[in-house]
Amino acid sequence: MTLNVIPQPNKVNFFGGEIKASELAVEYKLDETLGEEAYIIDIQNNRAIITSKGERGRYYADITYMKLAEKGTLPLCRIVDEPAYSYRGFMIDSARHMQTIDEIKKYILAAAEFKFNVFHWHLCDDQGWRIECESYPELIKVGAYRDCHGFRSQDAREYGGYYTKDEIRDIIEFCKERYIEVIPEIDMPGHTTAIVASYPNLSCRGVKVPVQTDGGIFKDILCAGKEEVYEFCFKLLNEICELFPSKRIHIGGDEAPKARWCNCEKCQAKIKEEGLKDEEQLQGYFTNRIVDYLEKEKGMEVFAWNETLNSGIVKDSVVVCDWMDRSNKCEEYANKGGKIIAEDFYHYYLDYPYGMTPLKKTYGYSPLLEKLDKKGRENVLGVETPIWTEYVEDFDRMCYMCFPRLIACGESGWTREENKNYKSFRDRLYTYKGRLLSYGVKMAEDKEWDPSLLIRTRDMLKRLKDMLNPRAISVFLFPNKDD
Ligand code: ACM
Ligand code: ZN
Repeated sequence: MTLNVIPQPNKVNFFGGEIKASELAVEYKLDETLGEEAYIIDIQNNRAIITSKGERGRYYADITYMKLAEKGTLPLCRIVDEPAYSYRGFMIDSARHMQTIDEIKKYILAAAEFKFNVFHWHLCDDQGWRIECESYPELIKVGAYRDCHGFRSQDAREYGGYYTKDEIRDIIEFCKERYIEVIPEIDMPGHTTAIVASYPNLSCRGVKVPVQTDGGIFKDILCAGKEEVYEFCFKLLNEICELFPSKRIHIGGDEAPKARWCNCEKCQAKIKEEGLKDEEQLQGYFTNRIVDYLEKEKGMEVFAWNETLNSGIVKDSVVVCDWMDRSNKCEEYANKGGKIIAEDFYHYYLDYPYGMTPLKKTYGYSPLLEKLDKKGRENVLGVETPIWTEYVEDFDRMCYMCFPRLIACGESGWTREENKNYKSFRDRLYTYKGRLLSYGVKMAEDKEWDPSLLIRTRDMLKRLKDMLNPRAISVFLFPNKDD
C-alpha cells in the first residue's frame, strides 16, 4: 500500500481505517535526534502528531500532510520519513532564453511541492550574460544581448536582458522560504562567448566576437595563459559571492574546446611554465586556481561539470556533476572519496523530447551507478535535473518539457530505490495536475510522455522536429545501454 503523495514516504505503517481531516487536531513536537529534513506523522485517536527536529522537517511534513488531507479523509497511519539524498536539485538555463521572475517563481513552487532543495541557476553562456554586474559593466551592455531571438528560426529580432540584483535577491528569498538553496553557475573557461564579446582581451586572440545566436560549442573561450583572465574571474566571483548567500558555487567547466589554446603563445607559455602535459591539463590548472581562490578566499564549496575530471589533476574537493561521462571517471572519483551529483543526459535532461526520454526512463534511473563501490555510493550527494533552453523559448514549452519528468527526478531524490514503483508513481501523478495548475504550471498530457499510448502521425512529426538539435542527434549516434 502506498500513500497518495509524491515523493513516496520511505516508511509507512497503516493501522487500518480512515479519519476525516476536519476531525483531526494537528499537534507539533520537536525531537533533537531526527535529521534536519526528517519528520514523523502519526495519525490516530483524532490527533495528527507531527514531529521534527525543527522548522525544516516540519515544512516537509506539512507538504505531505496537506497533500494527504486534500481529499478530506486521511488514513490512520504512522509515517517515518527522511530523504534518500541530501541534494535534490533542479537547474534552469536562463542564458539561452530567459524566464520572467514570476515564471521562475511558478517553477520553484512546483519543484518545492516535490521536496527539491537546490535551485542551480545557469546564468551565463555563449548566448547571453544575465546578472547585473558592477565590476564589469560591459557584461550587461554587450554580453546580455544577441542579434536573434529563437535559435532554430534565427529570427532577426534582438534578444536579451538580465536580472537585476534585486530580482535575484527576490528569487533567493522566495527559495529560502521553501528551504531551497540557490547555487549560481558561472561557466568557465568554455561557454564564455558572452564574456569575451564584452571583453575581447580575455580571449586568446583578443578579437571582437558577437554573442552567439545559435546552440553549440564555440571556440573563443577564456585564455588560460593571460594573468588578466584570472584577475577578471576573481573580481567577478567576488561580486557573485556577495550576491548569493549560498556557500556553494558552480563554475561550469564543460565543453571547453582547446583549438584557441593550442595556437596561443600565452597558453603555450603557461603550459611550459607550470610543467603541464597538454591543453587538457591547462584546463585542470585553470580550474584549480579558481577553486583555490573560492575555497581559500571565500570559503566556498565548488561544483563543476564532469569534464573537469579529464585533466586528471583537479582538486578532489570539487563536487562533480555527472552529465555525460563515457569513461566512468565520476565513479572512480567517487570511489576515491570525491563527491558527485547524478545529472545524466540520457535520463535527466528535460529539454530532450519525450520520444527519446519518456517518463518511465527518467523515473527508472538510479544514481547509484554500476561501478560505484560501497564508499563511492556514499559519495553520491544526490540528483539534479536541468532544463536547457536553446529550444525552449517560452514558459509553456518549459512546463511541457519538465512536467512530469522533473517530478520523477524528485521522487528519486527523496524515496529510496526499494520504495519506488513506477505504476504507483503514475497513479499518484494524476492527482497533482490541478495543484500544479494552481501554481501556473501545466503538465504535459500522458500521450506525450508515455510511448505505449497511441502516437498519432502528427505527434510523430512534431517529435521528429524536436529532435533536430545537435545533442539529440548525438544520442542516436551514441545511444546508452538502456535506450
Ligand atoms: C552540459 O550539458 N554541457 C553540462
Ligand atoms: Zn590563450
